[in-house]
Amino acid sequence: MLSYRHQFHAGNHADVLKHVVLVALLRALTRKDKPLCYFDTHAGRGTYPLPPPGGKPPPEWPNGLGRLLAAVDLPGPVADWLTIVRECAGGGDDVRHYPGSPVFAARVLRPRDRLILSELHPADAEILIAAFANDARVEAGQRDGHAQVARSLPPRERRALLLVDPAYERREEAEAVRQSVNTALARLAHATIALWYPITRASGCERLLAAPPGPEGTPLLQVEIAVRPRDNPIGLNGSGLLIWNPPFGLDATLEACLPWLAARLDQGGGGEWCLEWRCAPT
Ligand SMILES: C[S@@+](CC[C@H](N)C(=O)[O-])C[C@H]1O[C@@H](n2cnc3c(N)ncnc32)[C@H](O)[C@@H]1O
Repeated sequence: MLSYRHQFHAGNHADVLKHVVLVALLRALTRKDKPLCYFDTHAGRGTYPLPPPGGKPPPEWPNGLGRLLAAVDLPGPVADWLTIVRECAGGGDDVRHYPGSPVFAARVLRPRDRLILSELHPADAEILIAAFANDARVEAGQRDGHAQVARSLPPRERRALLLVDPAYERREEAEAVRQSVNTALARLAHATIALWYPITRASGCERLLAAPPGPEGTPLLQVEIAVRPRDNPIGLNGSGLLIWNPPFGLDATLEACLPWLAARLDQGGGGEWCLEWRCAPT
C-alpha cells in the first residue's frame, strides 16, 4: 500500500537540492557526444501543481522554491535549475507548477538519449505515462523501479545515469536500495548513480549511510543540506545524496553553490551543508 504522494512535498527544500544536483549531473554527462540512458526508478508523476501559500496544511514549496524565486546573484547551477522551472511554468514570474525529476531530465537530455521511467503508484504512473506519450526517447511504466534496474541494465548505450529517489515508506526500502545499487554497479561498473536520502531523527537510512553499497574503490561523493537541527523530532530536517561515479568536476560545481543554497533554505539549523568524498577517485 503506497500512501506517500509527492505532490504534498513538491518544490520543498529537498526537491531543490535533489534537482539542482540532478541538472548539474545531466549537464556534465551530456558534454560527451555519446548517448546516455537515464533511469528514474521512482519517477513520480512528472509535474506538480503548487497549492497557494497560506493553505491548510501549509504547502512546503514556499520554504524551498519559494525562497529562491526572488533571489538575486544565483550561483550557476541554481540559476540553471530555476531557468528550467520557469520555462516549464511558461517562462514568466508566475510559477504555479513544479517539474519533477523526469521533466528536468527530458529538458536537458538530447534526441539521441533515452529515459526509462518507473513509478509504482497507479494514479501517478498514469499521469506520468500520458505526459511522455509523445516523446520517443521515453519508456515510462507503472512498475517497481528496483525490478526495472535488474531488468534493463546494462543499457545498449553503455552509459547510464540512475536517479534512485524512494520515499522510504517501508522499512525494507533501504535494503531494496542497497540491492539496486549493487546490481547496477555489477552490470555497469561506471554507471553514475544518485541516491536521495532524508535527514530525519530515525530515517531508516543509517546503515545505508554508514556502510554504503557498491564495490570497494568506486568513487563516491556525499552532499547534504540540513535546514534544521538533525535531531529535531518532527519532519524533514534536511536531505542528501550519495553519488557513485560522479562526473569529473561535479564536486567543484556543487561546492560553489551549496553554501549559498544552505543559507537560503535554512529554517533554524544554521545553514549546515556538507560535501565529502566517501571514496575519492584515484
Ligand atoms: C520522492 S517521490 C519521487 C519524486 C521524483 N523522483 C521527483 O524528484 O520528482 C517517490 C515516488 O516513488 C513512488 N514509489 C514508491 N515505491 C516505488 C517502487 N518500488 N517503484 C517505483 N516507484 C515507487 C511513489 O509513489 C512516489 O511517487
